[in-house]
Amino acid sequence: MTLRVSIVGASGYVGGELLRLLLWHPQVTVAQATSGRNTGRYLYQVHPNLRGRSNLQFVHPDRLEPCDVLFLALPHGEAARAIGRYQSLAPTIIDCSADFRLSDPAAYARWYGEAHPAPELLGSFVYGLPEVSRAALQGARCASGVGCNATATNLALLPLVRAGLVDPGQPVIVEVKVGSSEGGATVSESSHHPERAGAVRSFAPVGHRHTAEVEQVTGLRNVHLSITSVELVRGALATAHVFTTRPLSEKELWQAYRSFARDEPFVRIVKERQGVYRFPEPKILAGSNYADLGFALDAATGRIVSICAIDNLMKGAAGSAVQCMNLMCGFEETAGLQFPGLHPV
Ligand SMILES: NC(=O)c1ccc[n+]([C@@H]2O[C@H](COP(=O)([O-])OP(=O)(O)OC[C@H]3O[C@@H](n4cnc5c(N)ncnc54)[C@H](OP(=O)(O)O)[C@@H]3O)[C@@H](O)[C@H]2O)c1
Repeated sequence: MTLRVSIVGASGYVGGELLRLLLWHPQVTVAQATSGRNTGRYLYQVHPNLRGRSNLQFVHPDRLEPCDVLFLALPHGEAARAIGRYQSLAPTIIDCSADFRLSDPAAYARWYGEAHPAPELLGSFVYGLPEVSRAALQGARCASGVGCNATATNLALLPLVRAGLVDPGQPVIVEVKVGSSEGGATVSESSHHPERAGAVRSFAPVGHRHTAEVEQVTGLRNVHLSITSVELVRGALATAHVFTTRPLSEKELWQAYRSFARDEPFVRIVKERQGVYRFPEPKILAGSNYADLGFALDAATGRIVSICAIDNLMKGAAGSAVQCMNLMCGFEETAGLQFPGLHPV
């Protein structure tokens, strides 16, 4: 069975990554890719890595036709604003934005500073991280996107949360270092090369919106995120500092991480005694859907440092979205997602 899929917002960074994955996916055909500003241009004129693979040209969003699966990769608020139209065009919707990630309208209003435009639909979107919602995604009609910083944080914390090891009486502090592609393809003063190159810049030391997704997924109420922009194009690295309910051994921690990763096709544990890549590192994940997890135990203080590296455009956006499609449509979960990343890069 081959499904016809279309992408709204295909000229952006997440849209381009969706195209890269879907044009090589064995069970889908890309029907349409929309862009208002690039209508009529060939895909490769915006995404040069796609040259030679497809003769598709961008169509205007107003010319979107019915299809089997519709991916939305739009700026914040645009998917929710026009969701009725999109749902009339496709039975299966996967939205990469933050519009349908939070199930609680009150949490949405608190973190996004306005009432949700379609609160009645929030319950019909399954949270789009297969490591969290695999069973619910199977056969689902609508999936939300995931926040890239939230995903790195959630995957760093979930092995400890699932094992019941996090002390709810102590704060969980998470530092996330992020690459420039998180900001999307639209240029701004802060993305200008002389301003962005070489940066180690506190972007959101407090108050980052993805905190809401971390609270929703982990159930923790004392998580504190700080986001720092670093010299990367792709990549997010979450370093979480966690205190546990009781003194633990490394062996118990290994059990918790192994138990979490065991049946996950895209979660790997990275914890080596020697070599260059002893802990997770986004550098070797560019273009891959893997989330690498690692940890270190400071036995003297009981602090666990839990680390997760991802490619923000892959596990943190398009990769998870395609993994969701595979589950929703009954395909092999890993279909189209086997690229392992590059080394050296
Ligand atoms: N970048 C990341 O690392 C990342 C990670 C996770 C989630 N996300 C989420 O994914 C979404 C897309 O992010 P991005 O980084 O790809 O953004 P982007 O590079 O700015 O791309 C946005 C796309 O939306 C299109 N667009 C803008 N307004 C539109 C409208 N009203 N109707 C239809 N199309 C419209 C744009 O093309 P035209 O203007 O030409 O139409 C462009 O193709 C965002 O909601 C973001 O929060 C991003």
